[in-house]
Amino acid sequence: MDRFSLQNKNIVITGASSGFGHHFAGVLAQAGASVVLGARRIEKIRERVEEVNAAGGKAVGVALDVLDADSIAAFLDAAEEAFGPIDVVINNAGVESGAKTYAMIDEEDWDYVMDTNLKSVWRISKMYTERVVKSGQKGGNIINISSITAYRTIKGQFPYAVSKAALVKATEVMALEGARFGIRVNALAPGYILTDVSRLLLESDQADEFRKGIPMRRYGEFEDLDGPLLLLASDASAYMTGSTIVIDGGHICSEL
Ligand SMILES: NC(=O)c1ccc[n+]([C@@H]2O[C@H](COP(=O)([O-])OP(=O)(O)OC[C@H]3O[C@@H](n4cnc5c(N)ncnc54)[C@H](OP(=O)(O)O)[C@@H]3O)[C@@H](O)[C@H]2O)c1
Repeated sequence: MDRFSLQNKNIVITGASSGFGHHFAGVLAQAGASVVLGARRIEKIRERVEEVNAAGGKAVGVALDVLDADSIAAFLDAAEEAFGPIDVVINNAGVESGAKTYAMIDEEDWDYVMDTNLKSVWRISKMYTERVVKSGQKGGNIINISSITAYRTIKGQFPYAVSKAALVKATEVMALEGARFGIRVNALAPGYILTDVSRLLLESDQADEFRKGIPMRRYGEFEDLDGPLLLLASDASAYMTGSTIVIDGGHICSEL
């Protein structure tokens, strides 16, 4: 069997209506995977599903709100109905709270960001693990989308950065505990790439100064994530679990 192939892999992606998740759907489908796209903006999901299928891929879309346990269960059910047991879960859905410091956010901001970026990852991963164990499926694979804000500090990204740092630790603990079920858990920690999550900063007056702090002197492109994504989603990474791969043009190595 080709360890680099995604042929016959059933991969679910949360937050696939825009940005990374939208891009991942095309990359994974092109590599042979069946993909299940979920997010709240169902029209955008439908459009992306049509594009992927028109390009020869296998995709279905499902309305998903990761803050709602019933919605997650329905998403996982739909994925199994469409393509059989789920091989890979990509926990990609995420939000930020809009250039606020810890002193500025209120409880609503805290809960919204932490519940979407962190609690939902635990919830989906728990529900997926229960399914893997119950079905007697050979194993599973979870990919969390963290961020370089897990490692370096920047003003105005609280509690986003806190949630992303916690995801690195969640990845390690889940890897430790999931191994007995054959479930691997790894993460990607991308640097800055222009999407709705990063727009506020990357389109601000500081954007150019900020870019100069990246050793490679450029922001990332979606395609920069493809290699690490395909590695983690495929059996090429069969002996990797608990790892977080940083993709940032060297940003976290920048000079103090
Ligand atoms: N862009 C960057 O520079 C960067 C860097 C490092 C990490 N990341 C991470 O990458 C991930 C994707 O973000 P992005 O940059 O691609 O931004 P984006 O375009 O805003 O994508 C975020 C996705 O999350 C979905 N989402 C948000 N809340 C949801 C909910 N309650 N239920 C279901 N889906 C939900 C959104 O879909 P709906 O609104 O349709 O539900 C959207 O598809 C996030 O975890 C982000 O933190 C981004």
